[in-house]
Amino acid sequence: MTATQTANRTAVAQSLTLDNLVKTYSSRGREEFKAVKGIDLSIEPGELVALLGPSGCGKTTTLRMIAGLETVTSGQIRIGDRTITDLPPGKREVGVGFESYALYPPLSIRENLAYGLKARKVKGAGALVDSIAQRLEMQDLMDLRPAGLSSGQKQRVALARALVRNPPVLLLDEPLSHLDASARQRVRRELKMLQREFGYTTIVVTHDQVEALSLADRLAVMDGGVIQQFGTPDEVFDDPANLFVAGFVGEPQINVVDGVLRRDGDDTVVEIGGGTLKVDVLGVADGTEVKIGIRPQDASIVSGVAGPGQISASVEYFEHLMEFGQAKISVAGGASLLIQTPARDHYRPHDRCALTAPASRIYLFDRESGLRLR
Ligand SMILES: Nc1ncnc2c1ncn2[C@@H]1O[C@H](COP(=O)(O)OP(=O)(O)OP(=O)(O)O)[C@@H](O)[C@H]1O
Ligand SMILES: [Mg+2]
Repeated sequence: MTATQTANRTAVAQSLTLDNLVKTYSSRGREEFKAVKGIDLSIEPGELVALLGPSGCGKTTTLRMIAGLETVTSGQIRIGDRTITDLPPGKREVGVGFESYALYPPLSIRENLAYGLKARKVKGAGALVDSIAQRLEMQDLMDLRPAGLSSGQKQRVALARALVRNPPVLLLDEPLSHLDASARQRVRRELKMLQREFGYTTIVVTHDQVEALSLADRLAVMDGGVIQQFGTPDEVFDDPANLFVAGFVGEPQINVVDGVLRRDGDDTVVEIGGGTLKVDVLGVADGTEVKIGIRPQDASIVSGVAGPGQISASVEYFEHLMEFGQAKISVAGGASLLIQTPARDHYRPHDRCALTAPASRIYLFDRESGLRLR
């Protein structure tokens, strides 16, 4: 029997819904702290959602509330049409990959992994455990005892343990953070495939955007206890909702410079450093001071003097990185931008150049709120 066949005993995939979820921490003598500020999230059955955000933004707190390890200050959590907000953890049917280290010391890793399955008299438990172990590259750990495992090994055990339990909802908090770079990539792929095969509705917390972009069906980008944007990786990358999301997702980071919007007949342009670039926005008045976001991959430069629709600049430095190059340029007025250049092009410091970018790839943001202007 394959792992997949064994796992087909799993309950049908379930949706997971968070409704205006709030967590306020209060401790004696200290001001209340709102770690999660009213999160709405609607996750489809079997979907893998990555929760991505900087340290302290409330990712773990959100996951712990769903798992029942943290009380909810207000709001609701539902699995399918079952409200689980106030149920004890054991009654929620949620698998967590972060209670990792609660293993039975006298048992081997194999026995630890099979323990819950055998208690429930699940057929084929041994085969399922061994098959998952193989795919997570941990066969050599199976006969060891939990004491003395490295943090990366413990992490794989925790992941395997969460996966074998057949939960309709699976929550993983930084499941790969202790693995070395190459194991991390391989285990990431296996994790995604196992999640697909088993059909668990899954949230993976990470602050690594490559991990988030490669794993997720949809991405919830979080900052300051608030979900800033929820969408497919392409939507989040191509159509950022605000300056925070634009800056957090994308490597190298998006360039952000100040400029002024001008309407010139039928054309709408932004003025940057004495030149203008056409933009694709409708709802912004002539003369509005804006923040302008241009990704290094979207802009291009050519050597020489700027023509119409281009901005004149000079090269600060240039790095040739084999498949492509990176030029840091400065435009009149002092703003600097990083531009990705084609492999064949070479530049030297102080070279004059001209900057251009397609109108549809220039993002405008409100200077005060950081919200996208469209
Ligand atoms: N028990 C607690 N009491 C008071 N404040 C807490 C408690 N747990 C977390 N916090 C605060 O809530 C905020 C969110 O913490 P959380 O652990 O959810 O962040 P995170 O997004 O998981 O960060 P990281 O990426 O560093 O793990 C932080 O400012 C943290 O200091
Ligand atoms: Mg955390």
